[in-house]
Amino acid sequence: MSEEPTSESRSDPSPGVTEVRADGGAAGADDVALDPWGSSTVEDYRKLFEQFGIEEFDEVLSEVADPHYLMRRGVIFGHRDYRPVAEAMREGEDAAVLSGFMPTGDPHIGHKMVFDEIIWHQQHGADAYGLIADLEAHAARGLSWDEIDEHTESYLLSLLALGFDPEDGEVYRQSTNRDVQDLGFELGTKANFSELQAIYDFDGETNVSYMQSVVTQMADILYPQLEEPRPTVIPVGPDQDPHMRLARDLAARMRFFKVTEAYASFEADPAERELVAEAYQALGGADADVRCEDAAAWLSEHAEPEGTPVATTVEKLENAGKEPVRPRVRFLDRNATDEAFEALVEAIDGEKRVFEGHVDSFDLSAEAAEDLAREVEVDNGGYGFYPPSSIYHRFMTGLTGGKMSSSVPASHISLLDDPEDGYDKVKSATTGGRETAELQRELGGEADECPVYELYAYLLAQDDDEYTKRVYEECVGGERLCGGCKEEAAELMREFLADHQEKREEAKEVLDGLDVELDSPRT
Ligand code: TRP
Ligand code: SF4
Repeated sequence: MSEEPTSESRSDPSPGVTEVRADGGAAGADDVALDPWGSSTVEDYRKLFEQFGIEEFDEVLSEVADPHYLMRRGVIFGHRDYRPVAEAMREGEDAAVLSGFMPTGDPHIGHKMVFDEIIWHQQHGADAYGLIADLEAHAARGLSWDEIDEHTESYLLSLLALGFDPEDGEVYRQSTNRDVQDLGFELGTKANFSELQAIYDFDGETNVSYMQSVVTQMADILYPQLEEPRPTVIPVGPDQDPHMRLARDLAARMRFFKVTEAYASFEADPAERELVAEAYQALGGADADVRCEDAAAWLSEHAEPEGTPVATTVEKLENAGKEPVRPRVRFLDRNATDEAFEALVEAIDGEKRVFEGHVDSFDLSAEAAEDLAREVEVDNGGYGFYPPSSIYHRFMTGLTGGKMSSSVPASHISLLDDPEDGYDKVKSATTGGRETAELQRELGGEADECPVYELYAYLLAQDDDEYTKRVYEECVGGERLCGGCKEEAAELMREFLADHQEKREEAKEVLDGLDVELDSPRT
């Protein structure tokens, strides 16, 4: 996640256990700029679903075994392709989790959410990775190596203090991970400048190491799959979504084969394929011997020409003449060596037909074909990457009301804050309370607008849904007044910080025993 914890607009509902969903009615900006290095405020989470294709977490929640409270409370509001990870974890199969931190300042309660997400996945069977994005901090933020070293240690201590098990997981710094850098170099062969320019707004003035830090992050994201491909989730803030989209693209571009469903032997794009499918079904499907020229004739009479590629589809079908339409799965050769392509042809059971650049199988299911393609790729020296999945959490509102910002100490709580300061910050926080106690009793507080309520839901109530719900209901029901509510929260915060800092002390010894270089030889 980014160094600057940003926040959603105050009109978004805060998470609670009652009725809290990320689609909440924010009257947000029309454009959501997702910029990993900016301080973009995510105005309206709903736009993320519409514009960028992030899916609602709600829809996979029931498939997650023993979901984390951040999932249950809608703090984790979105995902890309989380299903394979949830399934692997449910079935006790191989899965991984990885996230990275730019060591630009002290770790704060926003980072804690990500630490917790990594740890939860680790405790539920995933291989866990936490990395320090020191190359990125140096290249994109211009931090000196001394500053980076100091913060690196601090992030790792908090990660360990919160329960990361280093015996069963890996922590690393980008700068000392040779495998990551080599993988980044390989991935860089599949991305060009125009693309980075379009995604990140890079221009002629952007320093080259900055661009290198992007491919390094791509390598971080795919690193858990280096030994063996497996479903991997990257928990991040939505500002990191551009990185996820690029990583998913690059993962696909590295693949030897692309598996698609197909009709007849010619290559068709997805829209053309849909038209052929329609004609095929209309003419009797599997029960009839549908030929390409018949499908062409049917299509020219029946298809809605508007916006669909009828003309090109009809042409391709006519050229194929009497060839059967017959559905099949197709393996397109993308980056395969000749040996790998031959090995694939060899490995396909049942009826198959080999063409220039692709091979069609008539007996394999799409899923079996996908598995086979990956297996042959890995056996022949390829990576066989699964597209990495991601989950997205909401940003916390600043304690002073606006966005949480590292440059405004009163707006956020650092994990290194003196417990008394933490107490004081909560006591002086903005609330969703009414002007007077009478009004509060009469109308109830606005928990959905209250940074203090957020503290309960995101952190202080921990796993206790009943408690979270009670705070919410007492608040909106007018039984809870802000003074006492803040006192309670402030005490919990003081306790949390004291406890966390004690655990950080204990973690020092563990960290010393790990193979992480804390004094960078770089200057
Ligand atoms: N770019 C991330 C940030 O701004 C840090 C990061 C580097 C990262 N590599 C990563 C995050 C891999 C997730 C996964 O904080
Ligand atoms: Fe916020 Fe608590 Fe006041 Fe409700 S009672 S508005 S939750 S501080």
